[in-house]
Amino acid sequence: MRIAVFSTKPYDRTYLTEANRRAGDRHRLTFFEPRLTHQTAMLVEDHDAVCVFVNDDVSAAVVDRLADREVRLVLTRSAGYNHIDVDRATERGVVVARVPAYSPYAVAEHAVALLLALNRKLHRAYSRVRDQNFSLNGLEGFDVHGKTLGIVGTGTIGTVFARLMRGFHCEVLAYDPFPNEEIPQLRGTYVGLDELFTRSVMVSLHCPLTAETHHLLDADRFAQLPEGSLVVNTSRGGLIDSAAAVDALKSGVLGGLAIDVYEEEADLFFEDRSEQIITDDVFARLLSFPNVLITSHQAFLTREALENIADATLGNANAFERGEASISRVE
Ligand code: NAI
Repeated sequence: MRIAVFSTKPYDRTYLTEANRRAGDRHRLTFFEPRLTHQTAMLVEDHDAVCVFVNDDVSAAVVDRLADREVRLVLTRSAGYNHIDVDRATERGVVVARVPAYSPYAVAEHAVALLLALNRKLHRAYSRVRDQNFSLNGLEGFDVHGKTLGIVGTGTIGTVFARLMRGFHCEVLAYDPFPNEEIPQLRGTYVGLDELFTRSVMVSLHCPLTAETHHLLDADRFAQLPEGSLVVNTSRGGLIDSAAAVDALKSGVLGGLAIDVYEEEADLFFEDRSEQIITDDVFARLLSFPNVLITSHQAFLTREALENIADATLGNANAFERGEASISRVE
Protein backbone atom coordinates (compact mmCIF):
# COMPACT_ATOMS: atom_id res chain seq x y z
CA MET A 1 0.00 0.00 0.00
CA ARG A 2 1.27 3.50 -0.81
CA ILE A 3 0.98 5.55 2.34
CA ALA A 4 1.53 9.33 2.58
CA VAL A 5 2.73 10.07 6.11
CA PHE A 6 2.02 13.64 7.31
CA SER A 7 3.47 15.62 10.24
CA THR A 8 6.56 13.44 10.09
CA LYS A 9 9.13 13.97 12.82
CA PRO A 10 12.47 12.12 12.91
CA TYR A 11 11.10 9.63 15.45
CA ASP A 12 8.06 8.87 13.23
CA ARG A 13 10.33 8.15 10.28
CA THR A 14 12.58 5.90 12.37
CA TYR A 15 9.85 3.86 14.05
CA LEU A 16 7.58 3.53 10.98
CA THR A 17 10.51 2.52 8.78
CA GLU A 18 11.52 -0.14 11.32
CA ALA A 19 7.93 -1.38 11.64
CA ASN A 20 7.66 -1.59 7.86
CA ARG A 21 10.91 -3.56 7.74
CA ARG A 22 9.51 -5.97 10.35
CA ALA A 23 6.45 -6.35 8.09
CA GLY A 24 8.68 -7.30 5.13
CA ASP A 25 8.71 -3.81 3.57
CA ARG A 26 5.16 -4.41 2.50
CA HIS A 27 4.23 -0.72 2.23
CA ARG A 28 5.71 2.24 0.37
CA LEU A 29 5.92 5.08 2.84
CA THR A 30 6.32 8.69 1.69
CA PHE A 31 7.24 11.01 4.54
CA PHE A 32 6.00 14.61 4.48
CA GLU A 33 7.01 17.07 7.18
CA PRO A 34 4.02 19.44 6.81
CA ARG A 35 0.72 18.86 8.51
CA LEU A 36 -2.15 17.57 6.43
CA THR A 37 -4.30 20.57 5.52
CA HIS A 38 -6.57 21.51 2.67
CA GLN A 39 -3.48 22.73 0.78
CA THR A 40 -1.11 19.84 1.53
CA ALA A 41 -3.84 17.31 0.68
CA MET A 42 -2.64 17.87 -2.93
CA LEU A 43 0.49 15.85 -2.04
CA VAL A 44 -1.46 12.58 -1.75
CA GLU A 45 -1.57 12.00 -5.51
CA ASP A 46 -0.67 8.32 -6.17
CA HIS A 47 -1.20 7.22 -2.58
CA ASP A 48 -3.85 4.82 -1.29
CA ALA A 49 -3.71 5.95 2.32
CA VAL A 50 -2.72 8.87 4.51
CA CYS A 51 -1.14 8.50 7.91
CA VAL A 52 -1.83 11.46 10.24
CA PHE A 53 -1.32 12.69 13.78
CA VAL A 54 -3.35 14.71 16.27
CA ASN A 55 -2.90 18.17 14.77
CA ASP A 56 -3.48 17.21 11.16
CA ASP A 57 -6.67 18.61 9.67
CA VAL A 58 -8.92 15.80 8.48
CA SER A 59 -12.09 17.88 8.38
CA ALA A 60 -14.86 17.33 5.82
CA ALA A 61 -13.25 19.52 3.14
CA VAL A 62 -9.94 17.68 3.48
CA VAL A 63 -11.67 14.28 3.45
CA ASP A 64 -13.31 15.35 0.18
CA ARG A 65 -9.93 16.22 -1.33
CA LEU A 66 -8.51 12.88 -0.22
CA ALA A 67 -11.49 10.93 -1.55
CA ASP A 68 -11.35 12.82 -4.85
CA ARG A 69 -7.74 11.64 -5.14
CA GLU A 70 -8.75 8.04 -4.43
CA VAL A 71 -7.38 7.79 -0.94
CA ARG A 72 -9.28 4.95 0.69
CA LEU A 73 -7.80 4.84 4.16
CA VAL A 74 -6.90 7.33 6.93
CA LEU A 75 -4.52 5.88 9.50
CA THR A 76 -4.17 8.04 12.59
CA ARG A 77 -1.14 7.40 14.80
CA SER A 78 -3.22 8.28 17.84
CA ALA A 79 -5.96 6.98 20.09
CA GLY A 80 -8.03 10.19 19.90
CA TYR A 81 -9.73 10.96 16.58
CA ASN A 82 -11.43 14.31 17.23
CA HIS A 83 -9.30 15.78 14.38
CA ILE A 84 -11.07 13.57 11.82
CA ASP A 85 -14.56 14.04 10.37
CA VAL A 86 -15.43 10.36 10.57
CA ASP A 87 -19.01 10.85 9.30
CA ARG A 88 -17.77 12.55 6.14
CA ALA A 89 -15.13 9.85 5.66
CA THR A 90 -17.80 7.14 5.94
CA GLU A 91 -20.01 9.02 3.45
CA ARG A 92 -17.10 9.18 1.01
CA GLY A 93 -16.15 5.53 1.51
CA VAL A 94 -12.88 6.35 3.29
CA VAL A 95 -12.04 4.02 6.16
CA VAL A 96 -10.58 5.57 9.33
CA ALA A 97 -8.40 3.49 11.64
CA ARG A 98 -6.69 4.46 14.89
CA VAL A 99 -4.40 3.00 17.53
CA PRO A 100 -6.75 2.45 20.46
CA ALA A 101 -4.08 1.58 23.02
CA TYR A 102 -0.34 1.75 22.53
CA SER A 103 1.00 2.45 25.96
CA PRO A 104 -1.33 3.77 28.63
CA TYR A 105 1.75 3.79 30.87
CA ALA A 106 3.45 6.46 28.75
CA VAL A 107 0.59 8.92 29.20
CA ALA A 108 -0.33 8.00 32.79
CA GLU A 109 3.32 8.23 33.91
CA HIS A 110 3.62 11.64 32.24
CA ALA A 111 0.51 12.80 34.12
CA VAL A 112 2.11 11.67 37.39
CA ALA A 113 5.35 13.43 36.43
CA LEU A 114 3.47 16.66 35.67
CA LEU A 115 1.51 16.48 38.91
CA LEU A 116 4.57 15.91 41.08
CA ALA A 117 6.69 18.49 39.25
CA LEU A 118 3.92 21.10 39.51
CA ASN A 119 3.35 20.45 43.20
CA ARG A 120 7.04 20.50 44.12
CA LYS A 121 7.80 23.28 41.62
CA LEU A 122 10.57 21.33 39.93
CA HIS A 123 10.35 23.47 36.79
CA ARG A 124 11.29 26.52 38.86
CA ALA A 125 13.86 24.71 41.01
CA TYR A 126 15.62 23.42 37.87
CA SER A 127 16.11 26.89 36.39
CA ARG A 128 17.06 28.41 39.72
CA VAL A 129 19.80 25.88 40.43
CA ARG A 130 21.18 26.23 36.89
CA ASP A 131 21.39 29.95 37.61
CA GLN A 132 23.24 29.25 40.86
CA ASN A 133 20.22 30.46 42.81
CA PHE A 134 19.90 27.96 45.64
CA SER A 135 17.10 29.77 47.49
CA LEU A 136 14.07 27.67 48.46
CA ASN A 137 11.71 30.61 48.92
CA GLY A 138 8.38 30.03 47.19
CA LEU A 139 9.08 26.38 46.39
CA GLU A 140 6.82 24.82 49.06
CA GLY A 141 4.55 22.01 47.91
CA PHE A 142 2.30 19.66 49.84
CA ASP A 143 2.42 15.96 50.69
CA VAL A 144 0.45 14.13 48.01
CA HIS A 145 0.06 11.28 50.51
CA GLY A 146 -3.51 11.00 51.73
CA LYS A 147 -4.84 13.91 49.65
CA THR A 148 -8.02 13.70 47.57
CA LEU A 149 -7.47 13.21 43.86
CA GLY A 150 -10.18 13.46 41.20
CA ILE A 151 -9.89 11.49 37.97
CA VAL A 152 -12.22 12.37 35.11
CA GLY A 153 -12.37 9.43 32.70
CA THR A 154 -11.31 6.01 33.91
CA GLY A 155 -10.66 4.26 30.62
CA THR A 156 -7.31 2.68 29.85
CA ILE A 157 -5.12 5.66 30.79
CA GLY A 158 -7.22 6.99 33.67
CA THR A 159 -7.21 3.55 35.31
CA VAL A 160 -3.43 3.18 35.02
CA PHE A 161 -3.11 6.68 36.49
CA ALA A 162 -5.41 5.65 39.39
CA ARG A 163 -3.23 2.56 39.98
CA LEU A 164 -0.07 4.67 40.09
CA MET A 165 -1.58 7.25 42.42
CA ARG A 166 -2.78 4.57 44.83
CA GLY A 167 0.93 4.19 45.58
CA PHE A 168 0.74 7.65 47.14
CA HIS A 169 -2.24 6.52 49.26
CA CYS A 170 -4.45 9.22 47.76
CA GLU A 171 -8.18 9.12 48.23
CA VAL A 172 -9.30 8.60 44.64
CA LEU A 173 -12.60 10.06 43.43
CA ALA A 174 -13.54 9.19 39.87
CA TYR A 175 -16.14 10.17 37.32
CA ASP A 176 -16.96 8.21 34.19
CA PRO A 177 -20.34 7.57 32.55
CA PHE A 178 -19.13 3.97 32.16
CA PRO A 179 -17.57 3.00 35.51
CA ASN A 180 -15.21 0.03 35.59
CA GLU A 181 -14.61 -2.59 38.27
CA GLU A 182 -10.98 -1.78 38.92
CA ILE A 183 -11.52 1.65 40.46
CA PRO A 184 -13.43 0.28 43.50
CA GLN A 185 -10.81 -2.49 43.76
CA LEU A 186 -8.20 0.27 44.07
CA ARG A 187 -10.39 1.70 46.81
CA GLY A 188 -11.46 4.55 44.53
CA THR A 189 -15.02 5.85 44.60
CA TYR A 190 -17.18 6.89 41.67
CA VAL A 191 -18.91 10.18 42.38
CA GLY A 192 -20.72 12.86 40.38
CA LEU A 193 -18.73 15.67 38.78
CA ASP A 194 -19.92 18.22 41.36
CA GLU A 195 -18.61 16.15 44.26
CA LEU A 196 -15.38 15.39 42.41
CA PHE A 197 -14.62 19.05 41.78
CA THR A 198 -15.66 20.35 45.19
CA ARG A 199 -13.56 17.77 47.07
CA SER A 200 -10.44 17.21 44.99
CA VAL A 201 -7.25 19.16 45.63
CA MET A 202 -5.76 17.51 42.54
CA VAL A 203 -7.69 16.74 39.35
CA SER A 204 -6.43 14.85 36.31
CA LEU A 205 -8.35 14.65 33.04
CA HIS A 206 -8.41 11.41 31.04
CA CYS A 207 -11.66 11.51 29.08
CA PRO A 208 -11.92 12.04 25.31
CA LEU A 209 -12.82 15.39 23.76
CA THR A 210 -16.42 15.26 22.54
CA ALA A 211 -19.22 17.83 22.18
CA GLU A 212 -20.22 16.86 25.72
CA THR A 213 -16.77 17.22 27.29
CA HIS A 214 -15.75 20.41 25.43
CA HIS A 215 -14.85 23.00 28.11
CA LEU A 216 -15.68 20.50 30.84
CA LEU A 217 -13.52 22.72 33.04
CA ASP A 218 -15.10 26.12 32.64
CA ALA A 219 -15.40 29.07 35.03
CA ASP A 220 -18.12 27.33 37.07
CA ARG A 221 -16.08 24.15 37.52
CA PHE A 222 -12.93 26.08 38.46
CA ALA A 223 -15.01 27.95 41.06
CA GLN A 224 -15.98 24.60 42.64
CA LEU A 225 -12.39 23.54 43.33
CA PRO A 226 -10.94 23.89 46.83
CA GLU A 227 -8.69 26.97 46.84
CA GLY A 228 -5.18 26.24 45.59
CA SER A 229 -6.04 22.97 43.78
CA LEU A 230 -3.86 21.56 41.03
CA VAL A 231 -5.21 20.50 37.62
CA VAL A 232 -3.41 18.23 35.15
CA ASN A 233 -4.55 17.70 31.56
CA THR A 234 -2.84 15.11 29.37
CA SER A 235 -5.98 14.32 27.38
CA ARG A 236 -7.14 17.02 24.96
CA GLY A 237 -6.82 20.80 25.22
CA GLY A 238 -10.48 21.48 24.46
CA LEU A 239 -11.49 19.94 27.79
CA ILE A 240 -10.36 23.17 29.48
CA ASP A 241 -11.65 26.68 28.80
CA SER A 242 -8.17 28.25 28.75
CA ALA A 243 -9.42 31.82 29.32
CA ALA A 244 -11.31 30.59 32.40
CA ALA A 245 -8.12 28.85 33.56
CA VAL A 246 -6.25 32.17 33.32
CA ASP A 247 -8.93 33.83 35.50
CA ALA A 248 -8.86 30.97 38.02
CA LEU A 249 -5.05 31.23 38.23
CA LYS A 250 -5.27 35.01 38.70
CA SER A 251 -7.80 34.64 41.50
CA GLY A 252 -5.76 31.90 43.19
CA VAL A 253 -8.60 29.35 43.13
CA LEU A 254 -6.42 27.34 40.83
CA GLY A 255 -3.12 26.73 42.60
CA GLY A 256 -1.38 25.29 39.56
CA LEU A 257 -2.00 23.96 36.09
CA ALA A 258 0.04 21.35 34.23
CA ILE A 259 -0.96 20.69 30.64
CA ASP A 260 0.42 18.52 27.87
CA VAL A 261 -2.34 19.66 25.54
CA TYR A 262 -3.82 23.04 24.67
CA GLU A 263 -7.02 23.82 22.82
CA GLU A 264 -5.26 25.88 20.14
CA GLU A 265 -2.09 23.77 20.07
CA ALA A 266 -2.21 22.96 16.35
CA ASP A 267 -0.35 26.17 15.39
CA LEU A 268 2.10 25.94 18.30
CA PHE A 269 3.16 22.48 19.33
CA PHE A 270 5.75 20.14 17.83
CA GLU A 271 7.82 22.96 16.27
CA ASP A 272 10.69 25.21 17.41
CA ARG A 273 9.06 28.63 17.62
CA SER A 274 11.76 30.26 19.74
CA GLU A 275 12.39 32.92 17.07
CA GLN A 276 8.72 33.80 16.69
CA ILE A 277 6.26 36.09 18.45
CA ILE A 278 3.41 34.15 20.02
CA THR A 279 0.17 35.72 18.85
CA ASP A 280 -2.11 33.60 21.03
CA ASP A 281 -2.54 35.92 24.01
CA VAL A 282 -4.21 33.33 26.22
CA PHE A 283 -1.34 30.89 25.69
CA ALA A 284 1.23 33.65 26.24
CA ARG A 285 -0.53 34.55 29.51
CA LEU A 286 -0.49 30.90 30.61
CA LEU A 287 3.26 30.74 29.88
CA SER A 288 3.78 33.75 32.14
CA PHE A 289 2.48 32.11 35.33
CA PRO A 290 5.09 30.57 37.61
CA ASN A 291 2.56 27.89 38.59
CA VAL A 292 1.83 26.71 35.06
CA LEU A 293 3.82 23.84 33.59
CA ILE A 294 3.39 23.08 29.91
CA THR A 295 4.77 20.27 27.79
CA SER A 296 3.98 20.16 24.08
CA HIS A 297 1.92 17.00 23.70
CA GLN A 298 4.74 14.66 24.60
CA ALA A 299 2.94 12.31 27.00
CA PHE A 300 2.96 9.53 24.39
CA LEU A 301 6.66 9.91 23.63
CA THR A 302 8.28 6.75 24.97
CA ARG A 303 10.19 4.15 22.97
CA GLU A 304 7.59 1.51 23.79
CA ALA A 305 4.68 3.71 22.72
CA LEU A 306 6.36 4.76 19.45
CA GLU A 307 7.10 1.14 18.56
CA ASN A 308 3.54 0.07 19.35
CA ILE A 309 2.06 3.01 17.43
CA ALA A 310 4.15 2.19 14.34
CA ASP A 311 3.33 -1.55 14.48
CA ALA A 312 -0.38 -0.95 15.08
CA THR A 313 -0.62 1.70 12.33
CA LEU A 314 0.92 -0.58 9.72
CA GLY A 315 -1.09 -3.48 11.19
CA ASN A 316 -4.23 -1.47 10.38
CA ALA A 317 -2.96 -0.98 6.82
CA ASN A 318 -2.33 -4.73 6.48
CA ALA A 319 -5.77 -5.58 7.87
CA PHE A 320 -7.40 -3.09 5.50
CA GLU A 321 -5.64 -4.58 2.48
CA ARG A 322 -6.66 -8.11 3.46
CA GLY A 323 -10.19 -7.14 4.48
CA GLU A 324 -9.54 -8.44 7.99
CA ALA A 325 -11.70 -7.57 10.99
CA SER A 326 -8.62 -6.91 13.13
CA ILE A 327 -8.47 -3.32 11.83
CA SER A 328 -9.15 -0.76 14.59
CA ARG A 329 -11.76 1.04 12.59
CA VAL A 330 -13.46 4.23 13.79
CA GLU A 331 -17.10 4.52 12.73
P1 NAI B 1 -10.33 5.28 26.67
O1 NAI B 1 -11.33 5.29 25.57
O2 NAI B 1 -9.77 3.97 27.13
O3 NAI B 1 -10.97 5.98 27.97
C1 NAI B 1 -11.72 7.14 27.92
C2 NAI B 1 -12.70 7.08 29.09
O4 NAI B 1 -13.39 8.32 29.15
C3 NAI B 1 -13.76 5.97 28.95
O5 NAI B 1 -13.83 5.18 30.12
C4 NAI B 1 -15.05 6.74 28.72
O6 NAI B 1 -16.19 6.07 29.28
C5 NAI B 1 -14.74 8.03 29.47
N1 NAI B 1 -15.63 9.11 29.12
C6 NAI B 1 -16.34 9.31 27.99
N2 NAI B 1 -17.10 10.42 28.11
C7 NAI B 1 -16.84 10.94 29.33
C8 NAI B 1 -17.32 12.07 30.04
N3 NAI B 1 -18.25 12.87 29.50
N4 NAI B 1 -16.83 12.30 31.27
C9 NAI B 1 -15.92 11.48 31.84
N5 NAI B 1 -15.44 10.37 31.22
C10 NAI B 1 -15.90 10.11 29.97
O7 NAI B 1 -9.20 6.28 26.24
P2 NAI B 1 -7.70 6.34 26.79
O8 NAI B 1 -6.82 5.46 25.97
O9 NAI B 1 -7.70 6.17 28.26
O10 NAI B 1 -7.30 7.84 26.43
C11 NAI B 1 -7.93 8.94 27.09
C12 NAI B 1 -7.60 10.20 26.31
O11 NAI B 1 -6.22 10.48 26.44
C13 NAI B 1 -7.83 10.09 24.79
O12 NAI B 1 -9.16 10.46 24.47
C14 NAI B 1 -6.85 11.04 24.22
O13 NAI B 1 -7.53 12.26 23.95
C15 NAI B 1 -5.82 11.26 25.34
N6 NAI B 1 -4.47 10.87 24.94
C16 NAI B 1 -3.47 11.80 25.05
C17 NAI B 1 -2.16 11.47 24.70
C18 NAI B 1 -1.03 12.45 24.84
O14 NAI B 1 0.06 12.21 24.29
N7 NAI B 1 -1.18 13.54 25.56
C19 NAI B 1 -1.85 10.15 24.15
C20 NAI B 1 -2.96 9.23 24.14
C21 NAI B 1 -4.23 9.60 24.51
